[in-house]
Amino acid sequence: MSKICERMHAETEDITKIILQAAEKARAETSSEPEPGLTGKIKWPIECTVGPGLEGAIACSTKIGYVNGAKGWLIYQGYDIFDLCAHSTFEEVSYLLLHGHLPNKEQLDEFCAKLRSFLHIPHTLRTVMNLPLEQLNPMAALRFGANLMRQRLTWRDNESARPSPESAIYTDEDSIPMETKPMGEEHAIYEFRKKKRQRPKDARKNADDASDIESCMHLIAGMSSLTAAIKRIREDRLPIEPDPTLSHAGNLLYMMSGKRPSPEEERLMDVSLILHADHGMNASTFAALVVASTMSDIYFSVGAGIAALNGPLHGGANEQVIKLLEEIGSPKNVDVWFDKAASEKRRVMGFGHRVYKAYDPRARILGPLADYVTSKSGSKRAKTLLATAKKLEKKVATTLGKEKKIFPNVDYYSGLVYESMGIPQDIFTPLFAVSRVSGWTARILEYIAYNRIFRPRALYVGEFDKKYVALNKR
Ligand code: CMC
Repeated sequence: MSKICERMHAETEDITKIILQAAEKARAETSSEPEPGLTGKIKWPIECTVGPGLEGAIACSTKIGYVNGAKGWLIYQGYDIFDLCAHSTFEEVSYLLLHGHLPNKEQLDEFCAKLRSFLHIPHTLRTVMNLPLEQLNPMAALRFGANLMRQRLTWRDNESARPSPESAIYTDEDSIPMETKPMGEEHAIYEFRKKKRQRPKDARKNADDASDIESCMHLIAGMSSLTAAIKRIREDRLPIEPDPTLSHAGNLLYMMSGKRPSPEEERLMDVSLILHADHGMNASTFAALVVASTMSDIYFSVGAGIAALNGPLHGGANEQVIKLLEEIGSPKNVDVWFDKAASEKRRVMGFGHRVYKAYDPRARILGPLADYVTSKSGSKRAKTLLATAKKLEKKVATTLGKEKKIFPNVDYYSGLVYESMGIPQDIFTPLFAVSRVSGWTARILEYIAYNRIFRPRALYVGEFDKKYVALNKR
């Protein structure tokens, strides 16, 4: 761990304790037996049922992360999320996701120095300042920013380095990692070829090229500077230069507010960044991979990830949770509000998950952290929101929890942590992107090393042989 981060951990032992307690609770409440069929040696072919929204479908194989929804596990490159939150830092976790192993001291120092240098994106920020930011949703501005960052670094800007159409097609044909044999509407057998074929030399060189890892780091750092600048410009203030003595999380807070964060604030943001960094084949990761698989570049791919993350069913839920709690108003209104919402079949934002049918481990950590920060420094409004959230969680547990295994997800408590840290609501989803960019870029690098363009099918249920009728006869 770098000196800056060591100091942050040493001064925030209370937060470490809260995380370790959450880990213990998780271990006591969930089974630790490995799930047959999904661990150890995989037996090919895999037979699975595919439902709407590609539920159950397998898009690729990966070593980056694993979510076990039945048990509430979240693993990055083999490491448990509770251990990473208690002992690691966002910088170390980003290195882990990108490189597949934890860094030694020299590697980490070099990585942190490079990330810090990439926090400076003056060309991009100058252009962003010309955008009508007060009229733009911050996520739209962030997506613009990601694409604008492409002006530097990416080898795709250099025409001579762009893969030729032949090599791109060859890459596609020669690296088929998966065979799919659909057997009816909702049933498929997957067979991944045992030996992955390597891409042609020129494409492989591009995938492994240092500039691609550099592009990842450029984007990881840049999302942070962009989010901070977007927040400030929307408040009619100028962006702030990063402070080289702060961690990545510390700099994010500093560049947003202009004030050096307290060790608690820095650590809370660091834990939140670790928790949101990767999460299986979620919608934004898949969107980013789809774009990358066309041999488009990583900046456009991250732009696609940002666009997908913005939706209220995905990362946008963290803002919606606060709006919902504001609508409820106070703990005493929870029962009436919930009964009406249930009768209208409304979704309760911040609850439910495609994968988790047990308590989301990220919410296990963020819940007690929301308690901690709100009791320490939350406003009266934040305290009311938290009390309302806790009452609503109890209500949902006894209803949707029992009937449908619906529990709080990561978005339920993250906004409450940010609220007590004085961060405005419209920046909550950009903060999700500041973190998830590590997962997006790591998975893009992993996937494009053995790329095959994504191209699923749709079942045509329309008609044939319709006769064209001229406009004046319709
Ligand atoms: N409130 C009430 N009912 C729900 C909710 C909810 N939040 N989520 C799912 N259900 C019900 C749903 O109505 C359905 O009931 P039935 O079987 O009777 O029709 C059942 O649970 C299964 O739901 P689903 O629509 O099949 O679930 P899905 O896997 O398609 O959707 C989800 C997952 C996260 C989009 C959904 O749970 C949801 O809309 N949650 C609220 C939005 C939210 O919090 N999103 C953040 C997700 S976590 C962060 C991230 O990874 O993006």
